[in-house]
Amino acid sequence: VKIDIIGAPTAFGQPKLGVSLGPDAVRFCGLKKHLSELGHDVADLGNVYGSYRPEYGTHDIKNDEGLINFEQVKDFSERLASTVEASLNRNHFPFIVGGDHSLSIGSISGMANKYNNLGVLWIDAHGDINNSETSPSGNIHGMPLGVLLGEGSEELVNIHHEGAKLKHENIVLIGVRDLDSGEKTYIKEHGIKCYTMSDVERLGLDVVITKSLKYLQDCDGIHLSLDVDSLDPLEIQGTGTKVAGGIFLSEMLIGLNILSKTELLVSADLVEVNPLLDDCNDTAEKAVKIAEYIFGQSQL
Ligand code: ARG
Ligand code: MN
Ligand code: MN
Ligand code: MN
Repeated sequence: VKIDIIGAPTAFGQPKLGVSLGPDAVRFCGLKKHLSELGHDVADLGNVYGSYRPEYGTHDIKNDEGLINFEQVKDFSERLASTVEASLNRNHFPFIVGGDHSLSIGSISGMANKYNNLGVLWIDAHGDINNSETSPSGNIHGMPLGVLLGEGSEELVNIHHEGAKLKHENIVLIGVRDLDSGEKTYIKEHGIKCYTMSDVERLGLDVVITKSLKYLQDCDGIHLSLDVDSLDPLEIQGTGTKVAGGIFLSEMLIGLNILSKTELLVSADLVEVNPLLDDCNDTAEKAVKIAEYIFGQSQL
């Protein structure tokens, strides 16, 4: 596979400083080298920057819809979408390393011109399916799926390409254990496929991934969006919204091993690594392990 590593150092979707350092934290753990060792042709395209820099604080202005850092998120999303689309146009695999989860508005919007029936595997402690009406926080990293489904702020919905980018029936949520009440209602009303953390515990992540791939088999491609807060906080310190009772790394790798075998996987995001909250860059180290398994590492 020709992999394009795309650093997405945004932090505007949430209030904690440091998540914009995620892409470099992951690079320092040898991301490019490890993926190359698996036999892939890997290019690191560097970081995408918008017109705003997150280093001097990230949590300021609420717009009239209650969205925090709306301008910054919109601007960043446009830039990232263009970079992702250019990567696809070279027939490469865009691998976006974040940065907070609002970046998926940009990455998935960049997929929309080529894939009009894209499937998404969203592995996360959260649903990230809020919109300006349902969000309890105003933090846009809790809204990317909402935006991509066409809900809430029209300006965010119309980024890069008019209208919704995803269909409700093409999304699978995996590992969720902290949903806001508006998200629960939305998921039920639209019949969105959802394997909660209890489902993962009952079935095993390998079975959940197998079932999800079967469910998405008619899609024209599958995008993986993996938030490291899906993992158990006993193992992952370096992320901003930890929720107890998550997936353990060993189980994650078994699940990803199954995912890596499908030809349908065309792009991925790895998000919410925050080295300022971490213990000696351990979370980035684990993120690289995760990346290796997404791209076909196995124990054999
Ligand atoms: N549901 C909460 C909110 O909307 C938390 C979202 C956390 N999202 C994340 N990508 N870590 O504010
Ligand atoms: Mn290695
Ligand atoms: Mn999350
Ligand atoms: Mn998330």
